[in-house]
Amino acid sequence: MSEEIKTIKVTIDNITIDVAPGTTILQAARQIGGDVTPPAMCYYSKLEGSGGKCRTCLVEVAAGSTADPRPMPKLVASCRTGVMDGMIVKNMTSEKVPEARAGVVEFLLLNHPLDCPICDQAGECHLQDLGYDHGKQGTRYQFARRTFKKEDLGPFIQLHMTRCILCYRCTYVANQITDNRVHGVVDRGDHAAISTYISKAIDNDFSGNMIDVCPVGALTDKTFRFKNRVWFTKPVDAHRACTTPGCCGKTTLWMRGSEVFRVTARKDEWGEVQSFEGKPGWICNTCRFETKNAESWTIEGLTTISRHSVIGVNKYKTLEMPKETTKAVMNGVEPKLLMDIHNVSEVNKPGVHLSDIKGPAHSTNFKK
Ligand code: SF4
Ligand code: FES
Repeated sequence: MSEEIKTIKVTIDNITIDVAPGTTILQAARQIGGDVTPPAMCYYSKLEGSGGKCRTCLVEVAAGSTADPRPMPKLVASCRTGVMDGMIVKNMTSEKVPEARAGVVEFLLLNHPLDCPICDQAGECHLQDLGYDHGKQGTRYQFARRTFKKEDLGPFIQLHMTRCILCYRCTYVANQITDNRVHGVVDRGDHAAISTYISKAIDNDFSGNMIDVCPVGALTDKTFRFKNRVWFTKPVDAHRACTTPGCCGKTTLWMRGSEVFRVTARKDEWGEVQSFEGKPGWICNTCRFETKNAESWTIEGLTTISRHSVIGVNKYKTLEMPKETTKAVMNGVEPKLLMDIHNVSEVNKPGVHLSDIKGPAHSTNFKK
């Protein structure tokens, strides 16, 4: 006889759903989706133990359960609080949550530099989105921000500790999907920092996934740095028969024309790596950093990007080149006024392909 699966009822922002026992408020809210879902900067459903560090997911529990309908005295971290039968939760409908969340954003930005114009994460930074959606204009902080020197974490990853929000996700990646963790959070309080022990390089096959889980621009891909803004690139889903054990081989290629500028894991609607056949689709460093030619990939089609994302602003329907050339739209007249930029600038020299430059792009790459 099949056992009946018991579910429990939870109401979030006046929407009631049945969920499995053991579900957290955040997971239940994700099942409803949309604005009901609190933001999460440290929780990552594919990383065991994550959550409980950043407090961006705070919600109000207006009734604890049917058995004990008293409200919880303080706002709770929804990623770490399990639902009870009859629980009533307020996120968007709470009067207290927006104020508290704005305070959390202000705290996260105390030491975070506002260097979005030069940060490679701009356009896909969760802190940038969080600031716009839940933050307030201005800050009350009047002291010098803490700063750190940039650190090389091996040949592919750059650490800007100044931008880190200490969410710990990268340490969970290193613990759970690589064979040895050589970095972590050292020191305590406002001295706490991500660092490698004795600056050891992180050179295992899956270290690149730390870049994907980092919600800010603290960990960036050195093979992509300063080469393009993400909103100028066209993301396409692609796969290859990768032979690295544990690599799913399913990726997003960030292309410009036929050049592959960056390779990342595929992301879901919560900004987390997508799952395939019930397993997280982590990718290896060979796919990510060393397979940057389009011929090595089978392109499946355009990646679906949220229409709210700045990346989706550059709308397009197909990968085909437009048929209209300047000559065609000018009734056969060849354009005369177009300037050849190579006559006046050393930047973008013909023959120098950004995607072929191994490390970050610098002006020296264009000087003979
Ligand atoms: S480097 Fe990024 S992923 Fe790691 S703790 Fe800092 S913010 Fe989180
Ligand atoms: S996402 Fe819940 S505390 Fe960070």
